[in-house]
Amino acid sequence: MKLTVLFENHAGYKKGLLGYHGFSAIVEHNGKKVLVDTGTDGKVLLGNMEALGVFPGEIDALFITHGHYDHTGGMKAFLEARRVGIDVYAHPGIFQRRVALKPKLREIGIPFTREELEGLGATFHLSPEPVEFLPGFISSGEIKRNHWDRAVGYLVENGRYIKDPVRDDMALIVDLGNEIAVITGCGHSGIVNIAEHAVKLTGKPVKALVGGFHLRGAGQAILEDAVAKLKALGVEELYAGHCTGIDEYAHLKANFGYAEPLYVGKTVTL
Ligand SMILES: [Fe+2]
Ligand SMILES: [Fe+2]
Repeated sequence: MKLTVLFENHAGYKKGLLGYHGFSAIVEHNGKKVLVDTGTDGKVLLGNMEALGVFPGEIDALFITHGHYDHTGGMKAFLEARRVGIDVYAHPGIFQRRVALKPKLREIGIPFTREELEGLGATFHLSPEPVEFLPGFISSGEIKRNHWDRAVGYLVENGRYIKDPVRDDMALIVDLGNEIAVITGCGHSGIVNIAEHAVKLTGKPVKALVGGFHLRGAGQAILEDAVAKLKALGVEELYAGHCTGIDEYAHLKANFGYAEPLYVGKTVTL
């Protein structure tokens, strides 16, 4: 498996790459290419793709981790640039209206309608159940939360604000044979829950956890618990970025044993 980060809060070391809040990566495995999320901004996504030699038309499927704008905002530009249809795998909850209330009311959901994206060639396969949509590419399905989670924001239902559990948060599991890689978007379900769920689902140990771990502002107790539980679960390597948090990444680096940071252009080969 080879993963290349296309959209991340920080730019990498190659010429022409831009950092921007959000996440997207391309995963190549078993001769197929899957795009995970699309970042916040289409121009930045397409610019980084071009600089890294990734062509929108060569991607076999799109997996959306959850409906937040910083993972879905580049979708329209990606579909327009691609020009041919694509299968999109996600949870049925991605189109919910969602907002943040602080510091002021703002929309944080997917900035497009389903119809708009279907008009540009997206074929949605929306399911809360696990599904192997291409050989070795498994959508985790909805993730059971046995420990703390990292939900943010509010859903808007019948004009009322309801705390958003971000139920639609799913991970992409890549089957490496004897072990798995788990790719998260924001990790709202809680990074420990995600890893546990993936092990239970596949019966295989986690070689690497890659993506946003949403530990920013989590505090010492959660950080220490995350390190202890991921170690106990036998997770070998961490590749953390996006909403992990800089101080929180430093904690993982110092205490977990193996951790590398993500940035645009970073590759992970397993
Ligand atoms: Fe995010
Ligand atoms: Fe998110």
